[in-house]
Amino acid sequence: MPVILDTSVFDSDILGESTPDPLRFGFRRKLSAHAGGSHHAPIAAEQIQPLAQRVLQQTTPPFNKRCLYVHIPFCRVRCTYCSFFEYASSQRLIDDYFAALMAELKFKASQPWTQAAPFQAVYIGGGTPTDLTAAQIKQLGTMIRRYFPLATDCELTLEGRINRFNDEMFDSALEGGFNRFSFGVQSFDTQVRRQAKRLDDREVVLKRISELAATDQAPIVIDLLYGLPYQSIDVWLHDLDDFLDSGAHGVDLYQLIEMGNTPMGKMVEQGRLPEPADTITKASMFEIGVDYMAKHHLRRLSVNHWARDNRERSCYNSLAKTTAEVLPLGAGAGGNVGGYGFMQHRKLERYMDDVNQQHFPLAMMVKSSSHAMINTTIKAGFDRGVVVAKELDKQAGWPLFSYCLPLFQRWQKNGFVTLEQHGNHRYLNLTLAGQFWSVTLAQALIQVVTTAISKGQP
Ligand SMILES: C[S@@+](CC[C@H](N)C(=O)[O-])C[C@H]1O[C@@H](n2cnc3c(N)ncnc32)[C@H](O)[C@@H]1O
Ligand code: SF4
Repeated sequence: MPVILDTSVFDSDILGESTPDPLRFGFRRKLSAHAGGSHHAPIAAEQIQPLAQRVLQQTTPPFNKRCLYVHIPFCRVRCTYCSFFEYASSQRLIDDYFAALMAELKFKASQPWTQAAPFQAVYIGGGTPTDLTAAQIKQLGTMIRRYFPLATDCELTLEGRINRFNDEMFDSALEGGFNRFSFGVQSFDTQVRRQAKRLDDREVVLKRISELAATDQAPIVIDLLYGLPYQSIDVWLHDLDDFLDSGAHGVDLYQLIEMGNTPMGKMVEQGRLPEPADTITKASMFEIGVDYMAKHHLRRLSVNHWARDNRERSCYNSLAKTTAEVLPLGAGAGGNVGGYGFMQHRKLERYMDDVNQQHFPLAMMVKSSSHAMINTTIKAGFDRGVVVAKELDKQAGWPLFSYCLPLFQRWQKNGFVTLEQHGNHRYLNLTLAGQFWSVTLAQALIQVVTTAISKGQP
């Protein structure tokens, strides 16, 4: 029999508050963007190159599902709220970077590991990949398809924004083989957009998204943020209406995360911008968004992603968040292959130097901890809105779900989850409040499990 978890030692950071309104008041502390938690062992600098080489020589089945992530770290203008911004787009810099990226692409594609099994999903993310030229976008897609073994239904996503994404760009991307497009819209509202330094006004964005979706060439998916300065509840409702009217095939609803050191933070401090929404307001905006999608019969793929039809599958996101391996390409890209985490150099000069010398452009490599897969399963479950007992137990190799039951029961009492059992299948379902606090709950569970394992329990 497993040892039972003692919840009396946990405070409200783990258990949440007992309140009649857990959606708005369930946790006191602010959310961070991602659930962290894994304890990884860094590899010594001098061992990184030989080890990466060894890992990418491996060709022994069984293989995990695999994805390719390509990073384009440029943006024409920095949005005030964004903490992902790295380099301002300049054609010369982009051209030099692109040449290095093509060299890295061929080098990584030639590794035995790469050729050993098909890739299910490719994601070109940033930054703003649509700041590449039409010819570069086409070449990038063409090269990936020429050099990498891709599954026949492989999803190839190009991320970016609609600014300057004209017909020539779209056609080139399609010719390159991209079959899914993810555009950051954030808000359609012109005042919100201008204050956030987004390019183009509402009419331009709405018209372009509608045109692209109407071509029916590929799923067009958009990101919306809630909680931006000037984005009142009324504006939010209009944003949701605009999404629906645009005909886009899918949408992500992300709450604004306030990171230190963004231009927005400084502008608010100096009184040049009103405060963004507080957590309580964002919780209400989340509730409105969830209700809206249900009312309009959109299919929910995760706690914050919806699809209009079954053309939008969001393969990369669901694979990369679970057991898939991710091969990284480009400066600042991260991934995981063969039980190791890879983080590539962010600095362009360092990245290009390494690539030119046929080195792996790695800034860091870590050995994933033995319970990394448990953490991944927890994060993936909370992102999907349900933790499946059998999946968690399988990753742990012991009845971890049962061990955690006292915590789950407290969460159930506090309104974050419901526990369900059908036959011998058990599920931890997130309530609306649980969905809003899903990252916080995942972090709490990872902390509890990590502590238990480090103490040798059960
Ligand atoms: C790294 S951006 C790339 C997309 C593209 N460059 C754009 O601007 O539309 C990917 C997504 O991250 C999200 N994001 C950026 N800053 C964020 C923040 N402070 N809080 C929450 N989400 C944020 C936005 O929704 C954005 O679409
Ligand atoms: S939201 Fe997109 S375009 Fe804006 S700074 Fe961030 S990555 Fe760049």
